[in-house]
Amino acid sequence: MIFLLMLLIILLIFLCIVLVTMTLSVYGWLITSAPFVPVKNHALKYIIDALELQDTSVLCDLGSGEGKVLLAALESNPHVHVRGYEIGPVPRMLSLFRLRKYRHRSKIYNRDLFKAELSDVTHIFLYLYPSVLQKLEPIFDSQLHQGVRVVTCDFTFPNKKPISVIDMPHQGKLAKKLYVYIW
Ligand SMILES: C[S@@+](CC[C@H](N)C(=O)[O-])C[C@H]1O[C@@H](n2cnc3c(N)ncnc32)[C@H](O)[C@@H]1O
Repeated sequence: MIFLLMLLIILLIFLCIVLVTMTLSVYGWLITSAPFVPVKNHALKYIIDALELQDTSVLCDLGSGEGKVLLAALESNPHVHVRGYEIGPVPRMLSLFRLRKYRHRSKIYNRDLFKAELSDVTHIFLYLYPSVLQKLEPIFDSQLHQGVRVVTCDFTFPNKKPISVIDMPHQGKLAKKLYVYIW
């Protein structure tokens, strides 16, 4: 009898976790301007190389997902500071867990990426739809200081010319190219 009761409690806890995760995922999907598709692992080395981070760099990932790029940046340089903006509750929770060792050098904001604080950033990474990049372009024009290095994955800004395009070895359609811009 006790065994059955315990089994029932475990089942109920499991169902609650599934329900909460699903609700948060659907909520996140409804409020975001680009879906939660983390960048592929094979691309991380290329992204870090393309960013060319220095000891004094402040990297911002707008739509930072589960924090993969931010973690790779923190691990690549012991001085770099990183900042993420992530509106989806599930990826944000995952990223806070991933970056837990680096709280002194990282901050993840639960805020719309269009309201990001950009005045002090030196590097930006974006893996977002072209329609989002189109809206960000005038915001960057007015808010970024000169010389900010911006790296985008797979998609480009409509009016800005990249200084370089990097081909990445890939399987499938995702994470094929990186575009590097100097603002
Ligand atoms: C394609 S994923 C990229 C994730 C991460 N940058 C990476 O490369 O692994 C886009 C992310 O942007 C987030 N996002 C979309 N619209 C957003 C918004 N308006 N404000 C903040 N985050 C947003 C999504 O929840 C998703 O996690």
